[in-house]
Amino acid sequence: MTAAKAFLCIVKAKAPVSPLVIPEFKYADVCLVLFAWYQLSGFAIVCVLRFPWVFVIVVYGVLALYLSAEEERILRGFEGEARARALEVIVRVGEALGASRLIEIKHAHISGVSYENIGDFGVEFIEGFRALGARFSVPTSVNPVSYDVDDLSSIPGVTFERSYVEAQEAIVRALRDMGADLIYTCTPYYAGIPEVYGLKAGDHVAWGESSAVAYANSVLGIRTNREGGPLALMAAIAGRTYYYGMHVDGERRPRVSYIVEPRVALDEVEAGVLGEVVARIHRDERPPHIVALFDGDSSVKEFLASLGTVSDMAMAHIDGITPEDPGGEVREKVRIDYGDLEREVRERMPLEPVDIIYIGCPHSSVEELLRLARVLERVTIKAKVVISMSRSIYLKALKLGLVEKLRKTNATIVRNTCLIVSPFARYNRDVRVATNSYKAYHYLSRKGVKAYLMRVKDIEQLAQQT
Ligand code: F3S
Repeated sequence: MTAAKAFLCIVKAKAPVSPLVIPEFKYADVCLVLFAWYQLSGFAIVCVLRFPWVFVIVVYGVLALYLSAEEERILRGFEGEARARALEVIVRVGEALGASRLIEIKHAHISGVSYENIGDFGVEFIEGFRALGARFSVPTSVNPVSYDVDDLSSIPGVTFERSYVEAQEAIVRALRDMGADLIYTCTPYYAGIPEVYGLKAGDHVAWGESSAVAYANSVLGIRTNREGGPLALMAAIAGRTYYYGMHVDGERRPRVSYIVEPRVALDEVEAGVLGEVVARIHRDERPPHIVALFDGDSSVKEFLASLGTVSDMAMAHIDGITPEDPGGEVREKVRIDYGDLEREVRERMPLEPVDIIYIGCPHSSVEELLRLARVLERVTIKAKVVISMSRSIYLKALKLGLVEKLRKTNATIVRNTCLIVSPFARYNRDVRVATNSYKAYHYLSRKGVKAYLMRVKDIEQLAQQT
């Protein structure tokens, strides 16, 4: 049998065939037969064996992260060393994740700016970039810091040493020099950021702060991965992030649905517990699909904050709220009993009088302040009420006469920070705190404070106990 005949025999088989099964096969024909076999079995094998360098180039071409001419320029340092370094970090992380390219962002929000959380290492890191001449390439806002920059005495039981204040000031100075919008809030969406910078559904941003990330993706349709503080800082300087995860259409489509039954409007505490439950059972890498009723925006906010606290999820597709098509890929439905959520809430409510009632994690909206003021005006309670909010919401509340009303009820207003990112827990270990925020409950408990869950509407009931 000639080599040509063997080749024909293989072609007729219309599929890869081993030369060893062909009758009258002569080993003298082995090279040509093998060549033909490889041809039919796939060009890639020939490449690997005969032209390994071609294979390496093809694989690199497929897997490598594509950079535009502008990005190459930045990487080569034409826009300064700080921007080159920041972009290099983004590229390295993108490559590690398997991203195909980078995308330009319209806005960045930097978390991890509290000295309490990042310590001296964080100060050095941020100051280091400022010293390199870094400037933010896109509008950039920042999360709460470790104390109320407008009133150093507002956090109950906490006094600040000069060195602590100076360290926080160094962080703020560096961020300001780089061009940050110092809003000091974890609810940039209540502080007018989307309106001021024209952010709309489908826009790409790089936000830190898990609760804000989840709100951006799930409620506003603004796309962001859950960036750590340093990565959000790098993205803000580079003006870009990697095209991966929540930036990609297909990655936002849910495959598992969680249905709360019976359909009762969840208050802020029940919503927080729902976030915890979904976070514990959801295993799919895509966002969960939530079919539930929420009693207003504050409940949605608390649900998303809780989801981001217990898991690393950056989004939930909430039926009737998320402004995009879920995509019809749901293949599993999980029923969550409302009665179970209720029971979980009851088990974590205070049975004894508490010292502090804490509202405003994530930072309060004007609607929440209105509701709280209405309740507080009706009751007299021994517990100190502490409310955290952004400076911008404070100014709105001031205009509406709400600040005055709240202060008359003896409530303490904390701006620019909160009980979690400030040193509150270090100074208040024996204090009992009730909060309507699952996130605050979770972190205060972890920091050693005796924390409980409590709805705003339960304050009246608590008043009768005290
Ligand atoms: Fe905001 Fe502090 Fe809660 S930063 S989300 S109020 S832990």
